[in-house]
Amino acid sequence: FSNVDLLIVGAGFYGATIAERVANELQKNVLLIDRRSHIGGNAYSEFDSETGIEVHRYGAHLFHTPNETVWTYLNRFTGFTDYKHRVYSTYRDQVYAMPINLGTISQFFNRRLSPAEARTLIADQAAEMAGRNPANLEEKAISLIGRPLYEAFIRGYTAKQWQTDPRDLPEHIITRLPVRYTYDNRYFNDKYEGLPVDGYAAIFERMLNHPKINIALGVDFFSLKSSLPPGLPIVYTGPIDRYFDYSEGELGWRTIDFEKETVNTGDFQGMAVMNYADETIPFTRILEFRHFNPERSYQTEKTVIVREYSRSAQRKDEPYYPIDTRQDKDVFLRYRVRAEAEVNVHFGGRLGTYRYLDMHQAIGAALKAFESRVVPHFTEGRILG
Ligand code: FAD
Ligand code: NA
Repeated sequence: FSNVDLLIVGAGFYGATIAERVANELQKNVLLIDRRSHIGGNAYSEFDSETGIEVHRYGAHLFHTPNETVWTYLNRFTGFTDYKHRVYSTYRDQVYAMPINLGTISQFFNRRLSPAEARTLIADQAAEMAGRNPANLEEKAISLIGRPLYEAFIRGYTAKQWQTDPRDLPEHIITRLPVRYTYDNRYFNDKYEGLPVDGYAAIFERMLNHPKINIALGVDFFSLKSSLPPGLPIVYTGPIDRYFDYSEGELGWRTIDFEKETVNTGDFQGMAVMNYADETIPFTRILEFRHFNPERSYQTEKTVIVREYSRSAQRKDEPYYPIDTRQDKDVFLRYRVRAEAEVNVHFGGRLGTYRYLDMHQAIGAALKAFESRVVPHFTEGRILG
């Protein structure tokens, strides 16, 4: 460690962005470690050896952002395709466009409806909750979109995501349910959207290709910790509860089991993401990766699909989505106080701050932390916090 100026734990977007900035802007030596065998964190993808199809190993990753700074920054390392995300949902052997829009509503109620008629219909159906405060997720959803659409598109899907009856889930999990009174079914509304032309891994290879960045893969921070020189500045993007040895309690996460299958057909479902709303079907959705990159016209009569099953994470599982109950929030606040007091250690990223972050948010947060925390540390001698 004699010539390491900064240790970064985690080679996801947060850690990689800080590493790139520190090497290129400050000419400091970075040691970037990850316990996995690859860089890229959860955004990592690989080209399937049998079919050549790019498969996102940790679930579908769609890049989108309203943030010009992040977009400009990332475009230094990759071009983007013009992919625009769309999602469909299977319910009782029919396929509907998501998010719920005028097309979905007309198809579901089997009538042509003008935007105004659809608004009135949904408002009437939501009126069963009028004057009452929703006591659980089911009542909250009904107050937003009415019972029929809730029962078709939200109830079963949510129950599978949380492995809990929506009547036993707190209402604050959903604050809004988008219903569009147009036929627009673009999933994201952000100004910038697309997928990396050469895949996700290439972004990280380019970001981290610098003589001042050393990468050590398959290395767990906690097997190094006791041999680190005291005071070595650290950017830590692993789970915050693990850092403090779970001493304030364990934070709740949901994980996903991915069941990958190569199917002998050129096209399995005609689009990239199909949700399954019926509770009788155990998975929440099926991804078909070739449809993320129609510009590649993969020359294969096979296709790679992944079924997703959602459940709460045990310690050995990959933590994906913070559950964030009121108790989790309390536990996290206790860790945050301790993290602030931890001299020369900066906690960042989705695991280090116990927050769901999209990729653009992780990059944006890292760019900000670089300016507000890392630069002052190296140029003014301030403690890294
Ligand atoms: P991560 O990418 O998780 O990186 C953290 C790294 O730290 C990991 O590689 C981990 O191995 C490493 N680490 C942890 N502990 C240790 C340790 N003790 N020692 C060494 N290394 C350690 N975002 C979007 O914008 N669009 C999407 O469509 C999208 N889909 C998603 C789907 C799923 C299923 C999930 C889970 C996330 C999705 N995201 C999406 C979010 C995206 O993955 C995150 O924004 C991004 O991964 C955050 O980067 P990060 O660096 O904070 O964390
Ligand atoms: Na700190």
